[in-house]
Amino acid sequence: MLVSAEEMLKKAREGKYAVGQFNINNLEWTKAVLLTAEELQSPVILGVSEGAGKYMTGFKTVAAMVKAMMEELKITVPVALHLDHGTYEGCYKCIEAGFSSIMFDGSHYPIAENIEKTTELVKVCKEKGLSLEAEVGSIGGEEDGVVGLGECADPNECKAIADLGITMLAAGIGNIHGKYPANWPGLRFDVLAAIKEKVGEMPLVLHGGTGIPDDMIKEAISLGVAKINVNTECQLSFAEATRKYIEAGKDLQGKGYDPRKLLAPGTDAIKATVKEKMELFGSVGKA
Ligand code: 13P
Repeated sequence: MLVSAEEMLKKAREGKYAVGQFNINNLEWTKAVLLTAEELQSPVILGVSEGAGKYMTGFKTVAAMVKAMMEELKITVPVALHLDHGTYEGCYKCIEAGFSSIMFDGSHYPIAENIEKTTELVKVCKEKGLSLEAEVGSIGGEEDGVVGLGECADPNECKAIADLGITMLAAGIGNIHGKYPANWPGLRFDVLAAIKEKVGEMPLVLHGGTGIPDDMIKEAISLGVAKINVNTECQLSFAEATRKYIEAGKDLQGKGYDPRKLLAPGTDAIKATVKEKMELFGSVGKA
């Protein structure tokens, strides 16, 4: 059964570890993440961007696939199905489709409008027992058409949004979606510490988990980060393993062109990446 992310993040915040949000793109992705979470007995959040939802033919398809897959695979660890960087309309579509967790990304609105829309969604999510993530400041780079300039969040605005009754808060602290450029100055721990000071026990969300050095991940967790989003790194692992398979001519040997064979190395590579991240985030055995 899908669960809200509230309980798992509360435990993560108290236990000083983070739960990974791994974005899914198709059946192989979903299976790889769910099986790894079960094997490692880790709670997990499946992230779905609006673009990925559209690719998978709609949020209803995604929710039905995830629920059925959990049943067929006998997944027992806590799993939240979460909309990533949702628009206001997208949030309602996912609520209707049966997601257990929602992110409303109102960071591009003036703060008053972000507060107003987030307030409405807090009410709806509370009624339905769903967790809600809000965003202040913006995550740099581009993800599925969502472009952010990467402004650091204002700690006072973070407090104003956190006080609305959301479950978790994404705050820009110099993080970027996609690969980090070689001259990236690193996470702004001064800003993160100032936000933590203002929002207290609220679980903080670190987007752009791909390519952040291990020591920065650990420091971010020590400063209140309880959820870390990873998307690009699984895509890179999948692509690299698939390229190797094809470049070695394995698709031309026997029935190597069978999609179940062709996609297997990429799927295994996603599993390895998810495992590495769960170990780093400290969520192994915390189901
Ligand atoms: P990366 O693609 O950089 O891992 O970011 C994922 C993310 O933050 C999803 O919202």
